[in-house]
Amino acid sequence: MGTWQKSDWRNKPRVQMPDYQDQEALHAVEAQLSKYPPLVFAGEARRLREALGAAGRGEAFLLQGGDCAESFDQFSADSIRDTFKVMLQMAMVLTFGAKVPVVKVGRMAGQFAKPRSAPTETIGGVELPSYRGDIINELAFTPEARTPNPNKMLQAYTQAAATLNLLRAFSTGGYADVNQVHQWTLGFTASDKAEQFRDMANRISDTLDFIKAAGVQSDRQHALRQVDFYTSHEALLLEYEEALCRMDSTSGKWLAGSGHMIWIGDRTRQPDGAHVEFCAGVMNPIGLKCGPSTTAEDLKVLMKKLNPNNEMGRLTLIARFGAGNVGEHLPRLIETVKQEGANVVWVCDPMHGNTIKSNTGYKTRQVHTVLQEVQEFFATHRAHGTIPGGVHFEMTGNDVTECTGGVHAVSEEDLSDRYHTACDPRLNASQALELAFMVAEELVNLRETRLAANG
Ligand code: PEP
Ligand code: CO
Repeated sequence: MGTWQKSDWRNKPRVQMPDYQDQEALHAVEAQLSKYPPLVFAGEARRLREALGAAGRGEAFLLQGGDCAESFDQFSADSIRDTFKVMLQMAMVLTFGAKVPVVKVGRMAGQFAKPRSAPTETIGGVELPSYRGDIINELAFTPEARTPNPNKMLQAYTQAAATLNLLRAFSTGGYADVNQVHQWTLGFTASDKAEQFRDMANRISDTLDFIKAAGVQSDRQHALRQVDFYTSHEALLLEYEEALCRMDSTSGKWLAGSGHMIWIGDRTRQPDGAHVEFCAGVMNPIGLKCGPSTTAEDLKVLMKKLNPNNEMGRLTLIARFGAGNVGEHLPRLIETVKQEGANVVWVCDPMHGNTIKSNTGYKTRQVHTVLQEVQEFFATHRAHGTIPGGVHFEMTGNDVTECTGGVHAVSEEDLSDRYHTACDPRLNASQALELAFMVAEELVNLRETRLAANG
């Protein structure tokens, strides 16, 4: 490992990456990016690893969320603010349920490249390369738009830098004040479920009132005014990742400077492939998506490669099996982790196994299947005595209509109203917050079971 180089992935089989036709332009972009400042720093990555370690031990809980794919077109301060805000609200609800700190990690400031199920797309007899995210090509169905363009990496870098700048300002500049955050975005409706949420929301408000009345005023209390907010993305486009990889001068370790946490997707986790090779060599916390085809054998090899020193917080396993399938797949992975004595953080992504095509033709997800997968994830961990360490959502603070269901009941007919995603359907602010309440209920139950078990 001591001899790992940031370009070693180039000697491994690569999948899901574009074939840039203009190699000269590609090299120019790589050279330029290599000179730019990293977006994140080694100390931050270490701090996140410690926070995730706590989540692995049940002393914290991870909330990871954001767009499926960030877009150049929809980039705006308002949408960053809205997603940030709803994540803080969700975190507050989860903290209330779990009674432990919530580690907040956005799918933001770098989540631009997408794996696709097919390399090309055919419409009306015309075949063009698939859209692979704004860092690679464009969604429009023309040969020019679909040709991978390396210059887009520079725009992605600029957008990521601006996004991080705003997130850092929000995190420390008073916007994250708990007394502001709990101006709930949900707008509770008249249903039994909404009644329960209102009840929990009122208890949170009462608690905050008490804190204020007790003299712990937020303008004096730093901790209530600022938060740690981290960034993450799938490390898919390795030319971009390599160009932003830097050696940390204090530890001599390599850092992926593109984001605090990076993850390996379900389609790029080949143990001998390029993506695993790159991620194995950097010090950042690494996520590994685990889908129905993840075998115990692969997981064993991957854990050894990605976390050779078995550090808690280094490796997060992000389970994404689909509602109804968790019981079939998660136990074999839990058993493997137990047999190996491996330290991992178990996280549930209830989005990617639950994508369907609606009758109206839209790619969508139903809030109730998303919730069901979360519940199955908790139940399986309870049955095995292992620790559910967090959740991973595709969501936005905007009022989109991309997933169906929720207290405001988005229907299949509503999907066309505000369907803005360039990729997978996201939960809107209200659906995301609603799910946070439901996850909080699971966490309350879990805590009660543990307390009862401990007498
Ligand atoms: C994603 O997180 O957007 C994604 C493509 O996930 P997966 O690799 O799990 O399919
Ligand atoms: Co997605």
